[in-house]
Amino acid sequence: MSYKCVMSDNTIEINKLLNPLGDACNVWLFAYGSLIYKVDFPFIERCPASIRHRARRFWQGSHDHRGTKEAPGRVVTLIQQPGAVCVGMAFLVSNEVFDHLDHREKNGYLRLRTDISFADGNSVSGLVYVATEHNPAFLGVASEREIARQIAQAEGPSGPNRDYLLNLAHALRELGTHDEHVFEIERHLMQLNREAEQAEK
Ligand code: BEZ
Repeated sequence: MSYKCVMSDNTIEINKLLNPLGDACNVWLFAYGSLIYKVDFPFIERCPASIRHRARRFWQGSHDHRGTKEAPGRVVTLIQQPGAVCVGMAFLVSNEVFDHLDHREKNGYLRLRTDISFADGNSVSGLVYVATEHNPAFLGVASEREIARQIAQAEGPSGPNRDYLLNLAHALRELGTHDEHVFEIERHLMQLNREAEQAEK
């Protein structure tokens, strides 16, 4: 039986079993998606940061936050890409915060260890949530236009999928980083809006 077949789409227990937090009281967490702009957890320190050899992609399906089982939305995950640099935000958090975050990101995300680099050249070992192709909610590659089309139509308990995309694009601009994949999907979404408005006239 393959790993994909046995992996539940609720990762809370998997993270507890496979990725115990250890003895450290405080842990650096690398945020690259909604955790950058929806900071609903206490933190000790926050600092722009990056991780290497990973790229942000709207390849993970969301049926608990930004879509439904019938019409999943798309949210970001990280894929392995040699040489890539993913810019985001690092948060120093206490261990207890992961009870909340494991629950919030339970739809396929595993907590993995990663090196996190800061602008001053320092780096630390920390954690990052990644949804791999082995989880049942993974949607995988699609063109930026197709992704925008899916995002335009999806809505879930946390709100419209489009708000997720626009909030993330805004947060990345504030960080001063250019993410071609995210900004291209945003451009297509705006284009789709204009086309819909024209069709209504
Ligand atoms: C993040 O912002 O780091 C994040 C994105 C998706 C799932 C979990 C965390």
